[in-house]
Amino acid sequence: MSVRSLQVVLGDRSYPIHIGAGVLDDHTGIRAAVGGRQVLLVTNRTVAPLYAARVEAALSGLRTHTLVLEDGEQYKSVDSAQRVWQALAELGAQRNACLIALGGGVIGDLGGFAAACWMRGIDFVQVPTTLLAMVDSAVGGKTAVNLAHGKNLVGAFWQPRAVFADTDTLSTLPDRQYRSGFAEVVKYAAIIDPEFFSWLELHAHALLGRDRTAVAEAVYRSCAHKAAIVARDERESGERALLNFGHTYGHALETIGAYRTHLHGEAIAIG
Ligand code: NAD
Ligand code: GLY
Repeated sequence: MSVRSLQVVLGDRSYPIHIGAGVLDDHTGIRAAVGGRQVLLVTNRTVAPLYAARVEAALSGLRTHTLVLEDGEQYKSVDSAQRVWQALAELGAQRNACLIALGGGVIGDLGGFAAACWMRGIDFVQVPTTLLAMVDSAVGGKTAVNLAHGKNLVGAFWQPRAVFADTDTLSTLPDRQYRSGFAEVVKYAAIIDPEFFSWLELHAHALLGRDRTAVAEAVYRSCAHKAAIVARDERESGERALLNFGHTYGHALETIGAYRTHLHGEAIAIG
């Protein structure tokens, strides 16, 4: 296991991001992040058979339940949030309960939003399994669900207690999803770090070949940039808006294509 950690510094809401191959096998770390209480693991049909058992193994002895939702952006909805709240109710979840979001940005945004609302806010832990979620959506506390009127219209700033990004999980990610995630990686390089841009160009072949060391380095550098910006401007009153680079046109393209033509990263790359 080769893991590096960094911190999102937000006073008493500061939290660690653990990045690297084998993070999911860090049972002690995961257990410490959730504490000793009821735990709801929220994931989807695609990710559950791949990785849920690895997370569940860290939770033995706790009162836990795994909720497996359908897969897709259309399930980042109020209906799905309601399913999460029902599962929390059936678990007997109190204010000290914890929710773990295992999956891509859809599960992370939905799980975080549900956690922000349950009993006015319970702890949650992000376990991102897509490149996009590792470098962007799992860090920074933006949570939301979509309405028919538009994307992310209902949400909350609600920071996780910890992020566990096991870069080995990217080995099962479909190629189109993997490549699309690089839009958010290139974003940090373009807005803030020309040296990182050169590094990405130099390592493009290794990154597209999913070289473990190169991928972990790209995720680490991206998270370091996001953590620093979020620490300075948590609620996007200024600098954090830089992270929306490419998103104005990107969101327009996603909307025109009814979210079926372009993946998020593809639209952002064009933007
Ligand atoms: P996603 O969550 O839909 O995941 C993409 C696909 O990959 C899904 O089919 C998923 O089931 C599958 N998958 C996930 N992990 C896998 C793995 N390891 N192996 C195989 N398949 C796997 O999409 P995404 O690109 O991760 O996230 C997009 C969402 O993130 C959007 O809803 C977007 O609005 C949101 N987002 C949020 C923020 C934020 O700051 N909160 C930032 C950027 C994007
Ligand atoms: N993805 C943009 C942000 O977190 O602010």
